[in-house]
Amino acid sequence: MEYSNILCEKDGPLATVTINRPKVLNALNYETLQELKHCFETIAGDRSTRVVILTGAGEKSFVAGADISFMRELNPLEARTFATLGQEVMNTIEGIDTPVIAAVNGFALGGGCELALACDIRIASENARFGQPEVNLGVVPGFGGTQRLPRLVGKGHACELLFSGDIIDAAEAARIGLVNRVVPQDQLLESCRQLAGRICLRGPVAVRLCKDAVNNGLEMDLARACRYEADLFAMCFASTQQQEGMSAFLEKRQPKFESEKD
Ligand code: CAA
Repeated sequence: MEYSNILCEKDGPLATVTINRPKVLNALNYETLQELKHCFETIAGDRSTRVVILTGAGEKSFVAGADISFMRELNPLEARTFATLGQEVMNTIEGIDTPVIAAVNGFALGGGCELALACDIRIASENARFGQPEVNLGVVPGFGGTQRLPRLVGKGHACELLFSGDIIDAAEAARIGLVNRVVPQDQLLESCRQLAGRICLRGPVAVRLCKDAVNNGLEMDLARACRYEADLFAMCFASTQQQEGMSAFLEKRQPKFESEKD
């Protein structure tokens, strides 16, 4: 598939996906969502990609929401189709076993905040702004914000953001746990790349199964989730990476995790 609204660049084990509609602050229209879905499905099938960084083009915006000029004329059935596609994108990002880091480089509003929420880790630049301003447009969030936001920051903070439509700065987002940390704007991508680099040094099977354990386990009760974790732990012993990791420790050397096929 040819992409007109996103860029997908590969640098060894790192893929960087950039939403590239800076004139409209990277707002998500139907085509952009289709391209994102295709891109992340392709990454899911590519074992050589070990980490993804997701960001927005330009200095001002990660994603300023779903595209309001596209949405204004939708009828209810079309709106449902649009929300379903948006949710498929979020579910794909969350569901692939490759870690995804959101490099939030500016506005992350509405569908943009929801996109960041679907990622595993969020690093924000100092100029980042977060909010779910949908109530200002007479709608509820449609890409999973009412569900992922309370799960991440708790019901009270989520309700405040959802009911008020308030936009908060990066420091406040960090305070309520919406982002992992805040870095100067000119260091955002480098900071994300350094984190990606550290993840790439670890056992790839173990990293993928950690994501699986967190995302699937969160939907289970604790007893079932812990049994699920024990199964994933056991599965690691089917990989030579467990032998390599433990041998390296005992031999006082760095592990060399080579192939993910075994
Ligand atoms: N959709 C379509 N176009 C958008 C947009 C959006 N979500 N956000 C910004 N743009 C466009 C603007 O219309 C403007 O276009 P023109 O130059 O052609 O006028 C351009 O991007 C630049 O934006 P501004 O001039 O408004 O820039 P600003 O710096 O003055 O303000 C902003 C920035 C505060 C982010 C403001 O643009 C804004 O409030 N945007 C809308 C944010 C929003 O409401 N997002 C939620 C959308 S609903 C949603 O996402 C539903 C869902 O869950 C599925």
